[in-house]
Amino acid sequence: MNTMRETSAIDGQPFYPGDDAPGAAAPDGIVGESPALRRVLRLVETVATTDAAILIRGETGTGKELIAGLIHRLSARRGAPFVKFNCTAIPAGLLDSELFGHERGAFTGAIARRIGRFELAHNGTLLLDEIGDLPLELQPKLLRVLEAQEFERIGSTQTMRSDVRVIAATNRPLEELVEAGEFRADLFYRLNVFPIDLPPLRERAEDIPLLVRHFVMHHARKLGRRIDSIPADVMEMLLRHPWPGNVRELQHVLQRAVILSHGGSLQLPPLEAPVKMTRTPAPHAETFDDAVREHIVEVLRQTNGVVAGPRGAAVRLGLKRTTLLSRMQKLGITPADVVPAPLWFPVAPSTRSIAV
Ligand SMILES: Nc1ncnc2c1ncn2[C@@H]1O[C@H](COP(=O)(O)OP(=O)(O)OP(=O)(O)O)[C@@H](O)[C@H]1O
Ligand SMILES: [Mg+2]
Repeated sequence: MNTMRETSAIDGQPFYPGDDAPGAAAPDGIVGESPALRRVLRLVETVATTDAAILIRGETGTGKELIAGLIHRLSARRGAPFVKFNCTAIPAGLLDSELFGHERGAFTGAIARRIGRFELAHNGTLLLDEIGDLPLELQPKLLRVLEAQEFERIGSTQTMRSDVRVIAATNRPLEELVEAGEFRADLFYRLNVFPIDLPPLRERAEDIPLLVRHFVMHHARKLGRRIDSIPADVMEMLLRHPWPGNVRELQHVLQRAVILSHGGSLQLPPLEAPVKMTRTPAPHAETFDDAVREHIVEVLRQTNGVVAGPRGAAVRLGLKRTTLLSRMQKLGITPADVVPAPLWFPVAPSTRSIAV
């Protein structure tokens, strides 16, 4: 197999020394040398050392979270926590408690004090992922914290100060949400101090061979397989595919390819025809992810969308609540997949939430 070239994109530092783990919860490396990616990395390098709010925009799977982590690691805040918060995966009613924390007894079920993400991220970086899904009613609160760096835990009158650098990420066009009245313009401008646009993979096809070698090597090592050649026609097919799911999709296809390959030469599973990226379930499970997705949706239907608690989907599936929520997010499972929309959107049609 060709030796994988390891990009030293900033300061000659290798971002992904030998034992990197793409796809892991704390991704280490950025693979790619295309001019488009280099431009992004130059921007990252420029803004990382400032405290400016950053808005990372890009299609699903383009590496927004990876870039946010890199910004944190390159910043003076690297010694303090990098806290991720997904605005989609938490039910609207619990969002402010998750962000700002609550005191014991602040509301029914608040059996202990809880520290919110803003407090956890003190002196560090807070990634507000899928910011386009933040409910309108919470947006003024977030704006206030960003402006004043002050907040109160729910149930407390004491104002707390938190020095947090905020990075927001979105794969939804926020400008359109602002025009539709679903996202506050003032918050948009506050978050959008420094926008970073991640190009889709199809617009930086030069990166595909590097990514292919990187992921093949990684999965082969992990699975104890030996893959020592990638046939030219296989690479050709990988280069021609439009990759609507971007790097994440490529990574999963290569994982399947390594599993299916015998005899040292990479064999490709049939590449799915590009589908419109919707969040509705596929009619038949064709991939492992599709099968998992269908199963989770089915169990959620049975529990009426309830994730946590003794009768929730997490217990039935033998998973931790947080594991199930993050898996649902990765697989794009929304309430609309589980129960008919009117039951879920009585107030704001734009608010997506899952009952936990
Ligand atoms: N340039 C890259 N080099 C190596 N791995 C990458 C690169 N870009 C993305 N990945 C990997 O692809 C996967 C998806 O990346 P990430 O989660 O950062 O994307 P995202 O833009 O946040 O996606 P989503 O919008 O769906 O949340 C991760 O496993 C990440 O490690
Ligand atoms: Mg992400």
